[in-house]
Amino acid sequence: MNYNKKSVRDLAPAELQGKKVLCRCDFNVPIKNGVITSDVRIKAALPTVKYLLENGAAVILCSHLGKPKGEIKPELSLKIVAKRISELLGKEVKIAEALEPLSDEAIELAKAIRPGEVMLLENLRFEKGEEKNDPAFAQKLASLANLYVSDAFGTVHRAHASTASVADYLPAVCGFLIEKELGVMGKALADPDRPFVAILGGAKVSDKLNVIANLLEKVDTLIIGGGMAYTFLAAKGYGVGGSLLDSEKIGYCKEMMDKAAAKGVQLLLPVDTVVAKAFPDPIDGPIEVKTVAADAIPADMQGLDIGEKTRELFAAAAKSAKTVVWNGPMGVFENPTLAQGTIAVAKGLAESGAVTIVGGGDSAAACEQLGFAEKITHISTGGGASLEFLEGRELPGIACLQDK
Ligand code: 3PG
Repeated sequence: MNYNKKSVRDLAPAELQGKKVLCRCDFNVPIKNGVITSDVRIKAALPTVKYLLENGAAVILCSHLGKPKGEIKPELSLKIVAKRISELLGKEVKIAEALEPLSDEAIELAKAIRPGEVMLLENLRFEKGEEKNDPAFAQKLASLANLYVSDAFGTVHRAHASTASVADYLPAVCGFLIEKELGVMGKALADPDRPFVAILGGAKVSDKLNVIANLLEKVDTLIIGGGMAYTFLAAKGYGVGGSLLDSEKIGYCKEMMDKAAAKGVQLLLPVDTVVAKAFPDPIDGPIEVKTVAADAIPADMQGLDIGEKTRELFAAAAKSAKTVVWNGPMGVFENPTLAQGTIAVAKGLAESGAVTIVGGGDSAAACEQLGFAEKITHISTGGGASLEFLEGRELPGIACLQDK
Protein backbone atom coordinates (compact mmCIF):
# COMPACT_ATOMS: atom_id res chain seq x y z
CA MET A 1 0.00 0.00 0.00
CA ASN A 2 1.24 3.49 -0.80
CA TYR A 3 1.49 5.55 2.39
CA ASN A 4 2.80 8.59 0.57
CA LYS A 5 -0.41 10.57 0.34
CA LYS A 6 -0.94 14.19 -0.52
CA SER A 7 -1.78 16.25 2.56
CA VAL A 8 -3.24 19.69 3.19
CA ARG A 9 0.31 21.04 3.45
CA ASP A 10 0.89 20.10 -0.20
CA LEU A 11 -1.98 22.27 -1.42
CA ALA A 12 -1.38 25.68 -3.00
CA PRO A 13 -2.93 28.63 -1.08
CA ALA A 14 -5.52 29.09 -3.85
CA GLU A 15 -6.76 25.54 -3.30
CA LEU A 16 -7.92 26.53 0.21
CA GLN A 17 -8.55 30.26 0.13
CA GLY A 18 -12.29 30.90 -0.10
CA LYS A 19 -13.00 27.18 -0.60
CA LYS A 20 -15.41 24.92 1.24
CA VAL A 21 -13.74 21.88 2.73
CA LEU A 22 -15.54 18.73 3.81
CA CYS A 23 -13.31 17.44 6.60
CA ARG A 24 -13.98 13.87 7.80
CA CYS A 25 -12.78 13.36 11.35
CA ASP A 26 -13.14 10.53 13.84
CA PHE A 27 -15.11 12.15 16.64
CA ASN A 28 -16.24 8.73 17.87
CA VAL A 29 -15.40 9.64 21.46
CA PRO A 30 -16.41 7.85 24.67
CA ILE A 31 -19.37 9.52 26.39
CA LYS A 32 -20.66 8.62 29.86
CA ASN A 33 -23.76 10.22 31.41
CA GLY A 34 -23.70 12.99 28.81
CA VAL A 35 -20.02 13.83 29.39
CA ILE A 36 -17.13 13.22 26.94
CA THR A 37 -14.68 11.12 28.97
CA SER A 38 -11.74 11.43 26.54
CA ASP A 39 -11.39 14.20 23.99
CA VAL A 40 -8.09 12.86 22.63
CA ARG A 41 -9.60 12.26 19.19
CA ILE A 42 -11.09 15.76 19.07
CA LYS A 43 -7.80 17.36 20.04
CA ALA A 44 -5.98 15.20 17.48
CA ALA A 45 -8.07 16.72 14.67
CA LEU A 46 -7.57 20.35 15.68
CA PRO A 47 -4.26 21.10 13.90
CA THR A 48 -5.90 20.31 10.56
CA VAL A 49 -9.06 22.27 11.36
CA LYS A 50 -7.01 25.29 12.45
CA TYR A 51 -4.80 25.09 9.37
CA LEU A 52 -7.83 25.03 7.06
CA LEU A 53 -9.42 27.98 8.84
CA GLU A 54 -6.20 30.00 8.94
CA ASN A 55 -5.78 29.43 5.22
CA GLY A 56 -9.14 30.95 4.41
CA ALA A 57 -11.30 27.84 4.03
CA ALA A 58 -14.83 27.35 5.32
CA VAL A 59 -14.81 24.05 7.17
CA ILE A 60 -17.65 21.51 7.16
CA LEU A 61 -16.69 18.86 9.68
CA CYS A 62 -18.30 15.43 9.68
CA SER A 63 -17.99 12.21 11.68
CA HIS A 64 -19.84 9.20 13.02
CA LEU A 65 -20.51 8.52 16.69
CA GLY A 66 -21.27 5.02 17.94
CA LYS A 67 -23.27 2.49 15.98
CA PRO A 68 -26.79 3.87 15.34
CA LYS A 69 -27.04 1.65 12.22
CA GLY A 70 -28.91 4.05 10.00
CA GLU A 71 -31.45 5.07 12.66
CA ILE A 72 -31.66 8.45 14.31
CA LYS A 73 -30.66 8.02 17.95
CA PRO A 74 -30.77 11.37 19.75
CA GLU A 75 -28.36 10.09 22.43
CA LEU A 76 -25.74 9.71 19.67
CA SER A 77 -26.11 13.28 18.42
CA LEU A 78 -22.84 15.10 17.75
CA LYS A 79 -24.06 18.33 19.39
CA ILE A 80 -22.00 17.58 22.50
CA VAL A 81 -18.94 17.20 20.25
CA ALA A 82 -19.68 20.51 18.46
CA LYS A 83 -19.70 22.18 21.88
CA ARG A 84 -16.35 20.65 22.83
CA ILE A 85 -14.70 21.59 19.51
CA SER A 86 -16.03 25.08 19.95
CA GLU A 87 -14.49 25.32 23.46
CA LEU A 88 -11.15 24.03 22.18
CA LEU A 89 -11.09 26.25 19.09
CA GLY A 90 -12.44 29.30 20.89
CA LYS A 91 -14.85 29.74 17.99
CA GLU A 92 -18.48 28.94 17.28
CA VAL A 93 -19.09 25.55 15.67
CA LYS A 94 -22.47 25.63 13.96
CA ILE A 95 -24.62 22.52 13.97
CA ALA A 96 -28.20 22.11 12.73
CA GLU A 97 -30.96 21.37 15.25
CA ALA A 98 -32.34 18.69 12.93
CA LEU A 99 -30.73 15.28 13.43
CA GLU A 100 -30.54 14.10 9.80
CA PRO A 101 -26.96 14.81 8.71
CA LEU A 102 -28.16 16.25 5.40
CA SER A 103 -31.34 17.94 6.61
CA ASP A 104 -32.46 21.04 4.66
CA GLU A 105 -31.26 23.04 7.65
CA ALA A 106 -27.77 21.49 7.54
CA ILE A 107 -27.54 22.06 3.78
CA GLU A 108 -28.55 25.72 4.26
CA LEU A 109 -25.88 26.13 6.94
CA ALA A 110 -23.29 24.61 4.62
CA LYS A 111 -24.34 26.97 1.80
CA ALA A 112 -24.10 29.99 4.06
CA ILE A 113 -20.82 29.18 5.78
CA ARG A 114 -18.06 31.76 5.16
CA PRO A 115 -14.25 31.46 5.02
CA GLY A 116 -12.86 31.13 8.56
CA GLU A 117 -16.13 29.62 9.84
CA VAL A 118 -16.72 26.06 10.93
CA MET A 119 -19.73 23.77 11.20
CA LEU A 120 -20.32 20.11 12.03
CA LEU A 121 -22.80 17.80 10.32
CA GLU A 122 -24.85 15.48 12.50
CA ASN A 123 -23.83 11.84 13.03
CA LEU A 124 -23.33 10.43 9.53
CA ARG A 125 -24.44 6.97 10.66
CA PHE A 126 -27.97 8.34 11.26
CA GLU A 127 -28.20 7.93 7.48
CA LYS A 128 -28.33 4.37 6.08
CA GLY A 129 -26.26 5.29 3.03
CA GLU A 130 -23.17 6.00 5.14
CA GLU A 131 -22.21 2.47 6.13
CA LYS A 132 -23.43 1.10 2.79
CA ASN A 133 -20.86 3.29 1.07
CA ASP A 134 -23.78 4.53 -1.00
CA PRO A 135 -22.54 6.63 -3.94
CA ALA A 136 -25.70 8.77 -3.88
CA PHE A 137 -25.12 9.74 -0.24
CA ALA A 138 -21.41 10.30 -0.91
CA GLN A 139 -22.26 12.55 -3.84
CA LYS A 140 -24.66 14.61 -1.71
CA LEU A 141 -21.97 15.06 0.93
CA ALA A 142 -19.44 16.00 -1.73
CA SER A 143 -21.82 18.57 -3.25
CA LEU A 144 -21.45 20.69 -0.08
CA ALA A 145 -17.75 21.35 -0.70
CA ASN A 146 -14.89 21.93 -3.17
CA LEU A 147 -12.36 19.71 -1.44
CA TYR A 148 -12.37 16.59 0.76
CA VAL A 149 -9.88 16.29 3.61
CA SER A 150 -9.76 13.11 5.62
CA ASP A 151 -8.25 13.18 9.09
CA ALA A 152 -10.32 10.28 10.44
CA PHE A 153 -7.52 7.78 10.97
CA GLY A 154 -9.63 5.72 13.40
CA THR A 155 -12.13 5.05 10.61
CA VAL A 156 -9.89 4.48 7.58
CA HIS A 157 -10.48 0.72 7.71
CA ARG A 158 -14.18 1.32 6.95
CA ALA A 159 -15.33 1.63 3.34
CA HIS A 160 -18.17 4.05 4.06
CA ALA A 161 -19.66 6.89 2.02
CA SER A 162 -17.77 9.58 3.97
CA THR A 163 -14.47 7.66 4.08
CA ALA A 164 -14.32 6.07 0.63
CA SER A 165 -16.91 6.90 -2.08
CA VAL A 166 -16.86 10.61 -1.32
CA ALA A 167 -13.37 10.75 -2.85
CA ASP A 168 -14.90 9.83 -6.23
CA TYR A 169 -16.55 13.24 -6.34
CA LEU A 170 -13.97 15.64 -4.88
CA PRO A 171 -10.20 16.09 -4.84
CA ALA A 172 -9.18 14.13 -1.74
CA VAL A 173 -6.18 14.68 0.52
CA CYS A 174 -5.30 13.85 4.11
CA GLY A 175 -4.93 16.08 7.15
CA PHE A 176 -2.01 16.27 9.58
CA LEU A 177 -3.25 13.43 11.81
CA ILE A 178 -3.41 10.86 9.02
CA GLU A 179 -0.12 12.21 7.67
CA LYS A 180 1.48 11.58 11.08
CA GLU A 181 -0.10 8.16 11.58
CA LEU A 182 1.05 7.05 8.12
CA GLY A 183 4.47 8.59 8.58
CA VAL A 184 5.27 6.91 11.90
CA MET A 185 3.55 3.56 11.44
CA GLY A 186 4.31 3.36 7.74
CA LYS A 187 8.02 3.85 8.42
CA ALA A 188 7.96 1.24 11.20
CA LEU A 189 6.54 -1.32 8.79
CA ALA A 190 8.50 -0.34 5.70
CA ASP A 191 11.91 0.75 6.99
CA PRO A 192 12.21 0.43 10.79
CA ASP A 193 15.25 1.33 12.85
CA ARG A 194 16.44 -2.01 14.27
CA PRO A 195 16.16 -3.96 16.50
CA PHE A 196 12.42 -3.80 15.79
CA VAL A 197 10.31 -5.31 18.58
CA ALA A 198 6.55 -5.86 18.44
CA ILE A 199 4.60 -6.55 21.61
CA LEU A 200 1.16 -8.05 21.13
CA GLY A 201 -1.43 -8.70 23.80
CA GLY A 202 -5.18 -8.82 24.11
CA ALA A 203 -7.59 -11.63 24.66
CA LYS A 204 -7.82 -13.73 21.54
CA VAL A 205 -5.30 -15.13 19.07
CA SER A 206 -8.04 -15.20 16.43
CA ASP A 207 -8.28 -11.37 16.54
CA LYS A 208 -4.61 -11.03 15.72
CA LEU A 209 -3.88 -13.84 13.24
CA ASN A 210 -2.95 -11.58 10.36
CA VAL A 211 -1.06 -9.14 12.58
CA ILE A 212 1.14 -11.93 13.91
CA ALA A 213 1.78 -13.29 10.43
CA ASN A 214 2.56 -9.87 8.95
CA LEU A 215 4.76 -8.72 11.83
CA LEU A 216 6.78 -11.94 11.75
CA GLU A 217 7.92 -10.84 8.29
CA LYS A 218 9.23 -7.55 9.65
CA VAL A 219 10.37 -7.69 13.27
CA ASP A 220 13.49 -8.95 15.02
CA THR A 221 11.59 -9.89 18.16
CA LEU A 222 7.91 -10.70 18.55
CA ILE A 223 6.55 -10.68 22.09
CA ILE A 224 3.22 -12.32 22.89
CA GLY A 225 1.47 -11.56 26.17
CA GLY A 226 -2.11 -11.13 27.35
CA GLY A 227 -4.84 -13.73 27.04
CA MET A 228 -3.57 -14.85 23.64
CA ALA A 229 -0.28 -16.07 25.14
CA TYR A 230 -2.00 -19.10 26.69
CA THR A 231 -2.80 -20.59 23.29
CA PHE A 232 0.90 -20.26 22.43
CA LEU A 233 1.84 -21.90 25.73
CA ALA A 234 -0.60 -24.72 24.97
CA ALA A 235 1.06 -25.05 21.55
CA LYS A 236 4.36 -25.60 23.40
CA GLY A 237 2.69 -28.48 25.17
CA TYR A 238 2.15 -26.72 28.53
CA GLY A 239 -1.02 -27.23 30.55
CA VAL A 240 -2.80 -23.88 30.85
CA GLY A 241 -5.47 -24.80 33.42
CA GLY A 242 -8.59 -22.72 33.00
CA SER A 243 -6.80 -19.90 31.12
CA LEU A 244 -8.27 -18.40 27.99
CA LEU A 245 -7.61 -20.85 25.15
CA ASP A 246 -8.38 -20.60 21.43
CA SER A 247 -8.20 -24.38 21.02
CA GLU A 248 -8.78 -24.17 17.26
CA LYS A 249 -5.74 -21.96 16.92
CA ILE A 250 -3.17 -24.17 18.65
CA GLY A 251 -2.02 -25.45 15.24
CA TYR A 252 -1.72 -21.88 13.98
CA CYS A 253 0.44 -20.93 16.98
CA LYS A 254 2.74 -23.91 16.30
CA GLU A 255 3.03 -22.77 12.70
CA MET A 256 3.94 -19.25 13.80
CA MET A 257 6.56 -20.56 16.25
CA ASP A 258 8.11 -22.63 13.45
CA LYS A 259 7.99 -19.66 11.11
CA ALA A 260 9.71 -17.45 13.68
CA ALA A 261 12.45 -20.06 14.19
CA ALA A 262 12.95 -20.44 10.42
CA LYS A 263 13.23 -16.68 9.95
CA GLY A 264 15.51 -16.14 12.93
CA VAL A 265 12.88 -14.00 14.68
CA GLN A 266 13.03 -14.17 18.45
CA LEU A 267 9.58 -15.10 19.78
CA LEU A 268 9.17 -14.27 23.45
CA LEU A 269 6.34 -15.81 25.48
CA PRO A 270 5.59 -15.41 29.19
CA VAL A 271 7.93 -17.36 31.47
CA ASP A 272 5.69 -16.87 34.48
CA THR A 273 2.10 -15.87 35.00
CA VAL A 274 -0.21 -14.48 37.67
CA VAL A 275 -3.00 -16.98 38.31
CA ALA A 276 -6.28 -17.00 40.23
CA LYS A 277 -9.07 -19.50 40.84
CA ALA A 278 -11.56 -17.47 38.80
CA PHE A 279 -11.88 -14.38 36.61
CA PRO A 280 -12.48 -11.32 38.84
CA ASP A 281 -16.15 -10.49 39.35
CA PRO A 282 -16.69 -7.57 39.34
CA ILE A 283 -13.82 -7.07 36.95
CA ASP A 284 -12.14 -4.50 39.21
CA GLY A 285 -12.99 -6.31 42.45
CA PRO A 286 -10.53 -7.81 44.97
CA ILE A 287 -8.85 -11.03 43.87
CA GLU A 288 -6.46 -13.52 45.43
CA VAL A 289 -3.57 -14.34 43.11
CA LYS A 290 -0.21 -16.12 43.02
CA THR A 291 2.59 -16.27 40.48
CA VAL A 292 3.63 -19.57 38.89
CA ALA A 293 6.02 -20.62 36.13
CA ALA A 294 4.43 -20.64 32.66
CA ASP A 295 4.77 -24.43 32.47
CA ALA A 296 3.23 -24.97 35.92
CA ILE A 297 -0.24 -23.43 35.74
CA PRO A 298 -2.40 -25.46 38.13
CA ALA A 299 -5.31 -27.24 36.42
CA ASP A 300 -7.88 -25.45 38.60
CA MET A 301 -6.45 -21.95 38.05
CA GLN A 302 -6.25 -19.47 35.20
CA GLY A 303 -3.59 -17.04 34.06
CA LEU A 304 -4.73 -13.41 34.20
CA ASP A 305 -1.53 -11.38 33.87
CA ILE A 306 2.14 -11.84 33.08
CA GLY A 307 4.39 -12.57 36.07
CA GLU A 308 7.25 -10.50 37.42
CA LYS A 309 10.07 -12.27 35.51
CA THR A 310 8.10 -11.86 32.28
CA ARG A 311 7.54 -8.17 33.01
CA GLU A 312 11.30 -7.71 33.34
CA LEU A 313 11.95 -9.73 30.19
CA PHE A 314 9.43 -7.80 28.07
CA ALA A 315 10.41 -4.37 29.45
CA ALA A 316 14.11 -5.14 28.82
CA ALA A 317 13.33 -6.08 25.20
CA ALA A 318 11.48 -2.78 24.76
CA LYS A 319 14.35 -0.84 26.28
CA SER A 320 17.01 -2.37 24.07
CA ALA A 321 15.03 -1.85 20.84
CA LYS A 322 15.22 0.99 18.32
CA THR A 323 11.59 0.62 17.22
CA VAL A 324 8.78 -0.80 19.36
CA VAL A 325 5.18 -1.35 18.35
CA TRP A 326 2.76 -2.32 21.10
CA ASN A 327 -0.84 -3.41 20.68
CA GLY A 328 -2.98 -5.01 23.39
CA PRO A 329 -2.87 -5.32 27.20
CA MET A 330 -0.81 -7.97 28.99
CA GLY A 331 -3.54 -8.99 31.43
CA VAL A 332 -6.90 -7.99 32.88
CA PHE A 333 -5.68 -4.42 33.28
CA GLU A 334 -9.09 -3.15 34.43
CA ASN A 335 -8.26 -4.83 37.75
CA PRO A 336 -5.51 -3.09 39.79
CA THR A 337 -4.05 -6.44 40.95
CA LEU A 338 -3.87 -7.70 37.36
CA ALA A 339 -2.69 -4.48 35.72
CA GLN A 340 0.99 -4.85 36.66
CA GLY A 341 2.03 -6.52 33.40
CA THR A 342 0.41 -3.83 31.26
CA ILE A 343 1.91 -1.11 33.49
CA ALA A 344 5.38 -2.66 33.20
CA VAL A 345 5.19 -2.76 29.41
CA ALA A 346 3.90 0.83 29.23
CA LYS A 347 6.76 1.88 31.54
CA GLY A 348 9.27 -0.10 29.46
CA LEU A 349 8.17 1.83 26.37
CA ALA A 350 8.20 5.16 28.21
CA GLU A 351 11.78 4.50 29.40
CA SER A 352 13.00 3.23 26.04
CA GLY A 353 15.02 5.47 23.76
CA ALA A 354 13.34 3.74 20.81
CA VAL A 355 10.70 5.05 18.45
CA THR A 356 7.67 3.78 20.37
CA ILE A 357 4.29 3.30 18.78
CA VAL A 358 1.17 2.30 20.66
CA GLY A 359 -1.92 1.18 18.79
CA GLY A 360 -5.26 -0.08 20.03
CA GLY A 361 -7.69 1.51 22.45
CA ASP A 362 -6.70 -0.44 25.59
CA SER A 363 -2.94 0.00 25.37
CA ALA A 364 -3.39 3.66 24.39
CA ALA A 365 -5.72 4.20 27.35
CA ALA A 366 -3.22 2.48 29.66
CA CYS A 367 -0.42 4.85 28.57
CA GLU A 368 -2.66 7.86 29.01
CA GLN A 369 -4.02 6.82 32.42
CA LEU A 370 -0.52 6.08 33.68
CA GLY A 371 0.72 9.48 32.56
CA PHE A 372 3.22 8.00 30.07
CA ALA A 373 1.58 9.42 26.93
CA GLU A 374 4.11 12.25 26.61
CA LYS A 375 6.99 9.76 26.62
CA ILE A 376 5.62 7.63 23.76
CA THR A 377 6.61 8.68 20.23
CA HIS A 378 3.17 8.02 18.80
CA ILE A 379 -0.11 6.83 20.26
CA SER A 380 -2.38 5.94 17.40
CA THR A 381 -5.93 7.27 17.46
CA GLY A 382 -7.00 4.11 15.66
CA GLY A 383 -8.14 0.94 17.39
CA GLY A 384 -9.34 -1.39 14.62
CA ALA A 385 -7.66 0.85 12.05
CA SER A 386 -4.20 0.55 13.58
CA LEU A 387 -4.61 -3.20 13.84
CA GLU A 388 -5.54 -3.49 10.16
CA PHE A 389 -2.62 -1.20 9.38
CA LEU A 390 -0.27 -3.59 11.20
CA GLU A 391 -1.81 -6.46 9.23
CA GLY A 392 -0.55 -4.73 6.10
CA ARG A 393 -4.08 -4.53 4.70
CA GLU A 394 -5.14 -1.93 2.19
CA LEU A 395 -7.26 0.61 4.05
CA PRO A 396 -10.12 2.06 1.97
CA GLY A 397 -9.96 5.46 3.67
CA ILE A 398 -6.28 5.79 2.75
CA ALA A 399 -6.39 4.14 -0.68
CA CYS A 400 -8.97 6.70 -1.91
CA LEU A 401 -6.70 9.70 -1.20
CA GLN A 402 -4.47 11.29 -3.83
CA ASP A 403 -0.87 10.08 -3.98
CA LYS A 404 1.89 12.65 -3.64
C1 3PG B 1 -13.26 3.30 16.31
O1 3PG B 1 -13.66 3.76 17.39
O2 3PG B 1 -12.48 2.32 16.25
C2 3PG B 1 -13.63 4.02 15.06
O3 3PG B 1 -14.28 5.21 15.30
C3 3PG B 1 -14.44 3.14 14.14
O4 3PG B 1 -15.65 2.83 14.75
P1 3PG B 1 -16.46 1.53 14.32
O5 3PG B 1 -15.71 0.35 14.86
O6 3PG B 1 -17.84 1.70 14.93
O7 3PG B 1 -16.52 1.51 12.83
